Amino acid sequence: MANKSITLTDDLYRYMTSVSLREPDLLRQLRAETSIDPMAGMQIAPEQGQFMALLVRLMGAAKALEVGVFTGYSALCVALALPAHGKLTACDISEAWTSIAKRYWERAGVAHKIDLRLAPAIDTLDALLAAGHAGSYDFAFIDADKGNYDGYYERTLRLLRSGGLIIIDNVLWDGRVADDRVTDADTRAIRALNEKIHQDPRVTISLIPVADGLTLALKG
Ligand SMILES: C[S@@+](CC[C@H](N)C(=O)[O-])C[C@H]1O[C@@H](n2cnc3c(N)ncnc32)[C@H](O)[C@@H]1O
Repeated sequence: MANKSITLTDDLYRYMTSVSLREPDLLRQLRAETSIDPMAGMQIAPEQGQFMALLVRLMGAAKALEVGVFTGYSALCVALALPAHGKLTACDISEAWTSIAKRYWERAGVAHKIDLRLAPAIDTLDALLAAGHAGSYDFAFIDADKGNYDGYYERTLRLLRSGGLIIIDNVLWDGRVADDRVTDADTRAIRALNEKIHQDPRVTISLIPVADGLTLALKG
């Protein structure tokens, strides 16, 4: 019996997904369309989307936030899991990538649940706080530029209700966080936030080695 997380070989990954992944056709099509983009590696893994959808349902979340939309895969997973009256505020700066996202949200019949804000996400989060949304969000997913991760974390924490959940993506950063020879700004920003959250008494945490590493931080 192992007492640490298992190493996923390609064969084991294939097995895992073959017995657990339930990816709707539309999400599979979005993945295929995104795969031709040179930045396709930014898209979350399908098993991660399924896991996030499960958490949204488990919590009964109705008001959700996303920082980093790209072509809309994670937002679509979350929006499909929200109840009929649910809302997702989705932040990005790319008109081109989010135009693909919007097409799929329409086709999935969830476009009415998603409020896309095209602006630097720090500005959008500040605007939400200024508009009185502090303490009102149930669920948030942070998956944008790493240099702003701390700023996103602090603002998102204020926007969440007590008992709300933040998921932070890429916290293992393809292993670079554990390699002392890697000292670029993005890696340093992720390391700094990981260390800060480890000691942060405002949240209950779990860092799980799904995909590129996710930190789950429960407020309060
Ligand atoms: C890793 S991708 C998001 C992947 C997405 N969650 C998915 O499921 O495919 C990061 C996104 O963050 C966006 N981004 C980068 N800097 C940003 C900023 N300052 N404000 C808002 N979005 C930003 C990029 O345009 C890109 O679409």
